Amino acid sequence: MDVLIRADYDQMSKTAAGMIADLVRKKPDCVLGLATGGTPIGTYQELIRLHREEGLDFSNVRTFNLDEYLGIGRDLSKPYPLDQSYARFMYEELFRNIGIPLENTSVPDGLANDPEAFCDEYEKAICEAGGVDLQLLGIGGDGHWAFNEPGSSLASRTRIEVLTQQTLDDNYELFYKGAGFSREDMPHFAITMGIGTILGARSLIMLANGKRKADVVAAALEGPVTSRVTASAIQLHAGKATVILDEDAASGLNDVDFYKHTEKIKAML
Ligand code: GLP
Repeated sequence: MDVLIRADYDQMSKTAAGMIADLVRKKPDCVLGLATGGTPIGTYQELIRLHREEGLDFSNVRTFNLDEYLGIGRDLSKPYPLDQSYARFMYEELFRNIGIPLENTSVPDGLANDPEAFCDEYEKAICEAGGVDLQLLGIGGDGHWAFNEPGSSLASRTRIEVLTQQTLDDNYELFYKGAGFSREDMPHFAITMGIGTILGARSLIMLANGKRKADVVAAALEGPVTSRVTASAIQLHAGKATVILDEDAASGLNDVDFYKHTEKIKAML
């Protein structure tokens, strides 16, 4: 696991976007796993800039998103903040700005008639696409990846998950409140890729910024591997895992000097 520490959110985002862009240039038909939340927005903005100003070509890229609230789905008839689906978030924050055909993009279908059957189909679709080359991740306030709440099996696959009170509180403050919704409007369930699904990606990039994430980042990276903090499963990843943090999110880590030293030495290779 490589831990890269950047001065601020902007530098964190540019580093992540640069790594994704390198893969897209090397493998134009790569499969990207994508995430929602406030954290990856800067990364998506930089990818949009690279597409517009440097011609970064997403026309053959395939994407799978981590998760979606159960009971809602993209509704283009509503103005953006009133459509709180992750499918809409991805459409507004990335897809419509990078020239990727929408049929190349998949977000779990929160409106599926048979959500359990849908979860199996989603797993199958990822397999049929050849697996995820690079999975982008944030980390929730309770240490979750996607919507794998504390107690999720570290071998779990795509399934329906009940959201914790902390996730409901966090996501209400970050998104729903700003759009004028009340607490009662928030879905309590989600479809989420499992931890086992995420660990199947050939490479991972996990992002975190801000003091708010410092303790949970330290628990995930330097604490025990535990289903209480599902992002700690990064310690089990068999491929290339990179964590990119700003100084604030890194402030709870014990080994900051070693991570910085390692990055410097690796750059000389
Ligand atoms: C949601 C998403 C996660 C994301 C988390 C953190 O719960 N399901 O994938 O990592 O929010 O969000 P933020 O980046 O806004 O802190």
